Amino acid sequence: MATIIQKKGLPEIKETSEVKNFLNSRGIDYEHWIVPENSKTFTAKQVLNDVEKEDLLKTVNDKFELLKQKEGYTTRDLVVLHPDVPGINEMLAKFDKVHFHTDVEVRYIIDGSGYFGFLINGEKFLVHVKESDFISIPKNTTHWFYLDDAKRIKAVRYFQDTSGWVPNYTGDTTDLV
Ligand SMILES: [Fe+2]
Repeated sequence: MATIIQKKGLPEIKETSEVKNFLNSRGIDYEHWIVPENSKTFTAKQVLNDVEKEDLLKTVNDKFELLKQKEGYTTRDLVVLHPDVPGINEMLAKFDKVHFHTDVEVRYIIDGSGYFGFLINGEKFLVHVKESDFISIPKNTTHWFYLDDAKRIKAVRYFQDTSGWVPNYTGDTTDLV
């Protein structure tokens, strides 16, 4: 379950409904969707081949159907990151700086963990996302992302349109002040 880390002096938020309220009130959609047991055969492995990736996506296809019907999503893929991925640090360096996209950024974390940072109306905070967390960041919302020390995550990405999905850097710092 996701936790919210605020600037020094403010409490961490750990309770699911409070996390949801905190994010919703800032325009970010959040759901706690328990990863099904039949996904675990695949999520337990560090490396997945293309067939296994597709089989894993099928175990959570009900969520894709829901997003297709409700919000017009058209495609999804699976990102699998771990310390042995070639060029992982260069890849992560694209997203650990403060940026926004002109399209929504939608992730369903099905294994591992990482941090999304946000800068919204002058307020900065981190969301530590883990297995079973779904998060939808609206277009033009300033954010950043990095992995924790385990450097391991499996996340489904959902797209309405992939053309707007490039990072636009703002030059802000990621310090929580
Ligand atoms: Fe992003």
